[in-house]
Amino acid sequence: MSTFSNIGNLLSGPSGIQELMADLGEAFSIAPDMRMLGGGNPAAIPQMQALWRDRMRELLDDSGKIDRALLNYDPPAGNPLFRETFAAFLKRDCGWNVTQENICVLPSSQTAFFLLFNLLAGESSAGKKRILLPLVPEYIGYANQGSCTDFFTACLPRIEERGAHEFKYHIDFERLRITPDIAGVCVSCPTNPTGNVISAEEFARLRELTAQHRVPLIIDNAYGHPFPGVIYNSFRPQWDEGMIFSISMSKVGLPGVRTSMIVAAPNIVKALRNMNAIVSLANGNLGQAILQPMLADDTLIRLSRDVIAPFYRHRSDHAHRILQHELGDHVPWALHSREGAFFLWLWLKNLPIPAAELYQRLKMKKVLVIPGHYFAFGLAAPWSHADQCLRLTFSQPEHIVREGLAILAEEVKAVYARGDY
Ligand SMILES: Cc1ncc(COP(=O)(O)O)c(C=O)c1O
Repeated sequence: MSTFSNIGNLLSGPSGIQELMADLGEAFSIAPDMRMLGGGNPAAIPQMQALWRDRMRELLDDSGKIDRALLNYDPPAGNPLFRETFAAFLKRDCGWNVTQENICVLPSSQTAFFLLFNLLAGESSAGKKRILLPLVPEYIGYANQGSCTDFFTACLPRIEERGAHEFKYHIDFERLRITPDIAGVCVSCPTNPTGNVISAEEFARLRELTAQHRVPLIIDNAYGHPFPGVIYNSFRPQWDEGMIFSISMSKVGLPGVRTSMIVAAPNIVKALRNMNAIVSLANGNLGQAILQPMLADDTLIRLSRDVIAPFYRHRSDHAHRILQHELGDHVPWALHSREGAFFLWLWLKNLPIPAAELYQRLKMKKVLVIPGHYFAFGLAAPWSHADQCLRLTFSQPEHIVREGLAILAEEVKAVYARGDY
C-alpha cells in the first residue's frame, strides 16, 4: 500500500526529466568520461563566463549591494528594481507594452511552468481542464508537472520532408481543436527538443484561436526571444495581455542562479506571486543582482546577438557536418530543420530497434543522448515516429561532440546493417 498522496505519487515517481537530470549530474561528476549529448546544459562560452565573474567581483566590491542581495528576502514577485528594469528593457528592446505589474520573477522556468500549469489546469468548478500542446514533440520537463493524470493533450505535427536528410514539423491546424476543457495552449519556441521555430503565420493563427476561445497562449522562450536569442530566423513573438511569456536566465549561461521571469496580465502575475510565496517564500536574489545593470544598459541583449547566438550557430553547423560525414547515405536519416536552441533532432527512419534501446547501447559506449519517446506525451495513442528519434545536444566542447557523434554513427550503421528486428 502506498504511503503517499495521489499528487505525491504523481510527482515522486520516476519521470523522464528526473532520469535526464540524473544522467546529466552523473556525467559531470561520477562519470566524467561520458560524452554528454544528453541534457540541456548551456555551453561554457569563455566571453560570457568572464563577464559573470566580473559581475560577481563588482558585486563583492560593493559591500552594500552584495550584503543586500545575500541578507534580504525580496517580495515574492521579485526585486522591485529588477522588475522595473526588466519591464523597461522589454518596452525598449521588444516594443512590448508592459510595466512591472506584468512581470513575475520566479525560481526558474521549470518552477514557473509547474505553478502556471497548475494555476490554469486540473480539477476545477467547470470540470477537468487541460493544457494543450499544439505541436509535439515538446519539452520533456512539462510531462510530469500536472497535479492529476491526463493533464496534457497534444497535437501531432504535419511532417514536411525537405530532401533526403532534412525535415520540419508544422502545426497541423486540421487536427488542432480548442475544446471547452482547454485552459491554455503552450509551445516552446525554439522548441526543445527539435529546434523548431513556429512560423509567424502559425503564431498568428494560434493567437487568433486562443483569443477566440479566451484561453492564454503560453510561449516558452527559454532559448529564444529576447535572450539568449538562439533563433536563426527573424521571428520575434510579440507579447500582448492574452499571452503568457516565460523568459529564463538559464540559457544565457546562468542555470545555477535558478531564476526566470513570467510576462503576463496583472491578475496572472498576482496569482503566481501568491503561489510563489506559499511554495518558495521568495526568489534567489543573485541572478537578479547580476543581470539588472546588464538589462539596463543593453549589454545582455548585445551579447546575446553578437556572442551567444553565433556561438550556438557555429556549434550546430559543426555537429551537422560531423553527422553528414559519418552517416552519409549509409542509413535513412534526417535532421529537423535547424532553426534555434541547442539541439539536433535526428530522425532515423524505420530504425530497427526503439530509440530507447539505442540510448541504452550508446550509454554502454559512454555516449549519452535522449530517446525521442520522452518528448511525445499528452497523446491518445503511441506515436512510433518518436521511437525513431533522438535528441542530441551540441553545447559540450567540440571534441566531445565529435567523438560522441562518431560512436553514435557507428552504432546506428551497425543496427541497420544487422536489421536487429
Ligand atoms: C523549453 C524549456 N523550458 C524550460 C526549461 C527550464 O529552464 P530553467 O528551469 O533552467 O529556467 C528548459 C530547460 O532545459 C527548457 O528547455
